[in-house]
Amino acid sequence: MASTRFRRIGVALFVVALSTLEAIQWDRGPADKANITACVGGIASIPWSCVKGDGETIVSLAWTFQAPGKEKTRIATSYNGHFYTKDKRFGFLSNAGLSLHDARPQDSGDYSVQLGLLQADSSHVTVGRTVTLSITDKPPATQDGDLHVTLSDVARDDVTHVWTVPLNCGHFVDLGHPPVGVVWTTPSGEEKNSSYVDKGTFVLSVSSSVQGGNYSCHLPPSAPAARCLTATSPLKAAAQLYVDENDVRLTLLEAQLRETKTHQSKHTAQIHELNMTVDLILKGEISNCKGWLAVDPRSGVQLIYNSGQIMAVYCDQVTDNGGWTVFQRRKDASVDFYRGWTHYRNGFGDLEGNFWLGLDKLHSLTTSQKFELRVDMRKWDGTTGHATYSGFYVDDASQNFTLHYDKITGGNAGNCIYSSRGRQFTTKDKDNDRFSVNCALRKHGGWWYDRCSEANLNGVYKTDNSVYHADGVYCNSFAGYTYSLKLSEMKIRPM
Ligand SMILES: *[C@@H]1O[C@H](CO)[C@@H](O)[C@H](O)[C@H]1NC(C)=O
Ligand SMILES: *[C@@H]1O[C@H](CO)[C@@H](O)[C@H](O)[C@H]1NC(C)=O
Ligand SMILES: *[C@@H]1O[C@H](CO)[C@@H](O)[C@H](O)[C@H]1NC(C)=O
Ligand SMILES: *[C@@H]1O[C@H](CO)[C@@H](O)[C@H](O)[C@H]1NC(C)=O
Ligand SMILES: *[C@@H]1O[C@H](CO)[C@@H](O)[C@H](O)[C@H]1NC(C)=O
Repeated sequence: MASTRFRRIGVALFVVALSTLEAIQWDRGPADKANITACVGGIASIPWSCVKGDGETIVSLAWTFQAPGKEKTRIATSYNGHFYTKDKRFGFLSNAGLSLHDARPQDSGDYSVQLGLLQADSSHVTVGRTVTLSITDKPPATQDGDLHVTLSDVARDDVTHVWTVPLNCGHFVDLGHPPVGVVWTTPSGEEKNSSYVDKGTFVLSVSSSVQGGNYSCHLPPSAPAARCLTATSPLKAAAQLYVDENDVRLTLLEAQLRETKTHQSKHTAQIHELNMTVDLILKGEISNCKGWLAVDPRSGVQLIYNSGQIMAVYCDQVTDNGGWTVFQRRKDASVDFYRGWTHYRNGFGDLEGNFWLGLDKLHSLTTSQKFELRVDMRKWDGTTGHATYSGFYVDDASQNFTLHYDKITGGNAGNCIYSSRGRQFTTKDKDNDRFSVNCALRKHGGWWYDRCSEANLNGVYKTDNSVYHADGVYCNSFAGYTYSLKLSEMKIRPM
């Protein structure tokens, strides 16, 4: 008897809950608890919009603001279709949205909207959303104040002889929400939207051998002033791309760059430099990051020409006088390193973040001349360790990328690579180690495992070293098998 009654109540509650859920649907604007940004003096727009259910009426609308550590305060209400606020910087965006003009740093905090809703059955429900707004005092940010067209990861199909050339427009940092796109103009005059990748990089991929010519990228005129853009902000960048079956060249077009005289001469110098560099790259004179030292001694992503291919690499020009071509980096858990053979062969990740350059590239680099290897590591308390080796190289795929070195030459981290010397590379789908089971499956990485390994720098990135594990990013001689490091970088430099 009792159970029947309970069941009935349960059903009734379910119906109420369901109708509450159906009461309102958010169809636009930032998601609940999203983070949005705007810039000082700019416009923050929170275009919340919702769709009511049948027979429902919005009876009240109220917006509140809560600065970090402060009380919640009401900033605006809407009643009978009229919007009331004491601060004229707030505006109403139909039908639950809010805008803020002339943003100030003290406007940072949580903004919420509460909707009181009268349902068809005369019951009331309240629904709401919150976003966290950060007002940044940074001006519009590009890496050095201009948009640039740059090339990355140029690839040529050996069979069709077609080049694929991703052109990047960036780095442009857009503080608005949602982010603006950029528009590309191709040599034929066609306009194309490009995809936003990350950190303000907008990519346009061109392929085939006939698309050489002038490419330019610009922000669409519709990009609102709220983007922290000012009249003097750079809005356009252009480059001339030359592509044929043997060659890819990129030349920045000085005419399209900033107009001020000082900048002009700076850019002319840069264009000249870039021209020369492209020539040097294509002549094979910049075949690793040591070659870049004399031309552009900054650390970062650079193009090199090695064994017949142009490749993008990360250059470390700081550590021990620079000249290092980095082929591995672990700095956070954002990239999964538990991958198969093909991934380790071709490389993966983000050259500015966590990545593995790829075994084929590592082979062609290390066999073009004699290299030293350097392994840099950091613990969570900031302690650093490193080890250097002479005569480092890896064999090609037919030898499963066997690792070689002559001897350890320095460092304070001991030698945790010795068990990898003379060993082939092993991944979860290709067992080349000397253990009865596949070490990649045990250690959750890809490595020159033996039985299994003194180092596991491609293991699982872990932030909690209080738990026992031996599949982390470890180097036994530096921090033990069970300590997963905060940072690992592997790099090579000609000897
Ligand atoms: C917003 O930012 C906070 C603090 O940086 C972070 O903890 C939270 O996960 C972010 N929320 C979303 C939805 O990204
Ligand atoms: C490019 O994006 C704009 C704005 O988002 C849009 O109006 C336009 O139709 C798009 N053009 C193409 C070719 O997709
Ligand atoms: C590319 O742009 C430059 C500078 O504006 C111009 O001189 C040149 O003729 C253009 N080339 C082509 C193929 O349109
Ligand atoms: C860049 O190279 C092109 C082709 O070799 C040449 O025509 C142009 O004058 C060069 N520009 C500068 C600034 O050196
Ligand atoms: C490379 O690995 C494959 C598969 O794991 C194996 O069959 C082959 O014998 C290995 N090559 C050499 C040279 O050991």
